[in-house]
Amino acid sequence: MSRDAWTTADIPDLTGRTALVTGPTLGGLGWFTALELARAGARVALAGRTPDKLDAAAAAIRDEVPGASLETLVVDLADLASVRTAAAEAAGLGPLHLLVNNAGIMATPYRRTVDRLESQLATNHFGPFLLTGLLLDQLVASGDGRVVTLSSQMHRVARSAPLGDPHERRRYSRWRVYGQTKLANLLFTFELDRRLRRAGLPVQAMAAHPGFAGTHLVVNGQLSSTQGRVASIMDAAVRAVSQPAHAGAWPTLMAATEDLPGGTYVGPSGLGQGSGAPGIVGATALAHDEMAQRRLWELSEKTVDLTWP
Ligand SMILES: NC(=O)c1ccc[n+]([C@@H]2O[C@H](COP(=O)([O-])OP(=O)(O)OC[C@H]3O[C@@H](n4cnc5c(N)ncnc54)[C@H](OP(=O)(O)O)[C@@H]3O)[C@@H](O)[C@H]2O)c1
Repeated sequence: MSRDAWTTADIPDLTGRTALVTGPTLGGLGWFTALELARAGARVALAGRTPDKLDAAAAAIRDEVPGASLETLVVDLADLASVRTAAAEAAGLGPLHLLVNNAGIMATPYRRTVDRLESQLATNHFGPFLLTGLLLDQLVASGDGRVVTLSSQMHRVARSAPLGDPHERRRYSRWRVYGQTKLANLLFTFELDRRLRRAGLPVQAMAAHPGFAGTHLVVNGQLSSTQGRVASIMDAAVRAVSQPAHAGAWPTLMAATEDLPGGTYVGPSGLGQGSGAPGIVGATALAHDEMAQRRLWELSEKTVDLTWP
C-alpha cells in the first residue's frame, strides 16, 4: 500500500454531524461503517428491519466507542409503507449530513414483496430510492449533505437496466437480477447527483463498492439465515477467500467523508478491485447511459409514488 493510500485515519472529526446507515447488522459492512462514523464523533442512526439486531449493533458499537451517540430506526426496505413510516420517524433526527444506502440482499430465491415487486429490486433499489427522496429535505437542511449508495462489481454482469414493468412477473435469474439491482444503484447515483446539481441543492451523491468482503451477504442470500452449522461453514468459506468486512467498509467511508466531486464511485484499488485500499474507480458504459438513468428515475418515481427532488 502506498503512503498516500486512504485509511480510516483520514476520516475527519465528525462531531456535530448526523449520519443514517441502513443495514447495520453485526458482521456486515453497515456495522463497520457505522462504527467508524461513530468513532469520528458523528451521531449515527442505525436503520434496519430487525429491532433485536439493531440493539445488538448499537451495544457492540458502544463497547468500542463508549459514549457513542446512537439512534435506532426500524425500516424494512422491501416494504414501501415501512419506508414511509421510518422516514416520518427519522424527521425527528433533524438535519442529516449523510445517508448511507448500504442494506441489500444478493441472489435470493424469487419472492414478491407486499408491494408486488421482485424482492431484490425492491430491497436494493426501490426502497432506498424512496427513503432517499423522503430524507432529501433533511439532507438539504444540513447545508452539506451526502448520499452514498452501495453498488458492486456485479453491476458489470448486467446486460440491461431494469426498466420493465416492475409489477410484472418475468423469467427470473437470481444473479442476473442482482447484477441489475447493483447497476440500478449506479444509474440512481449518477442521475441523483445530476438532478441535485441542476436544482442547486447542497447535497452530493456518491457510490461505493467493497470488492469482495467477508460478510453474511452470501448466507443471507442462499439460506435466508445466519444461524446453524451450514451457515457457519459457508460464512467461513467466504471469509477464507475475501477481504475482512472492516476493510470492505473503507470505500463507503472514503466516499462518505473525503472531499470528492459529486458522482464519484469509490472501490478497492487492488487486483480486479476485489480488495485493497480504496480509490476512485470506473463503472460500465451502461451505468453512465443517461437515457437509462433518466428512464429508471421516472420508473422509480412512478413505482414508489414520489416525485423528487
Ligand atoms: N460483501 C460483499 O462482498 C459485497 C460485494 C459487493 C456489494 N456488496 C453490497 O454491500 C451492501 C452490504 O452488504 P453486506 O455484505 O454487509 O451483507 P450482509 O452482511 O448480508 O448485510 C446486509 C444488511 O442489509 C440488511 N437488509 C437486508 N434486507 C433488508 C430489508 N428488507 N430492509 C432493511 N434492511 C435489510 C440486513 O439486515 P438483516 O440482518 O436483518 O438481514 C443487513 O443488515 C449490500 O448492498 C451489498 O449488495 C457487498
